[in-house]
Amino acid sequence: MDSTPSTEHALMDGEHRAVLHWAEEAARRLLRARPFEDCAYAIDVLTHLARSHFAHEETEMHTMGYPGVSAHILDHRKLLDELARLRACLAAACGSVSGRGPRRALVERLSAWMLPHIEGHDGGYALWLRRRAPGASRTADTSAAIRGSPGERPGPPKGRQG
Ligand SMILES: [Fe+2]
Ligand SMILES: [Fe+2]
Repeated sequence: MDSTPSTEHALMDGEHRAVLHWAEEAARRLLRARPFEDCAYAIDVLTHLARSHFAHEETEMHTMGYPGVSAHILDHRKLLDELARLRACLAAACGSVSGRGPRRALVERLSAWMLPHIEGHDGGYALWLRRRAPGASRTADTSAAIRGSPGERPGPPKGRQG
């Protein structure tokens, strides 16, 4: 089941699915106590895909003149820093028992790693884009969309696939 939140921005949503797939795959390998190298590979693929995806978003935001681009880039950097920290903890996690402790903590962080960013920052950008599209209402407060505040998110995730 695809549980990727929809931003209604097709290109972003497609890349999010790929990134989240590898976050889930890394978590799955840890849960199944796969060897360190297998888990490290999944986190390295995840890091590569995330870097590529963030670069695509940042290029588009600059091109579109998105005023929230600086805060968005900062959050991308935080996500990559967190991935690097998780990767650094991998050896200890792989050597621990699977029920609790470092392995479980790493699985939980990987599972939740990017969802708040997609629902907040990315959703806010996609909403800003839609509001400036030809024919869109200009009366909406786009500054809230730029901040990605919970009260102004683009609504519940849509487009989930079973
Ligand atoms: Fe994104
Ligand atoms: Fe983003």
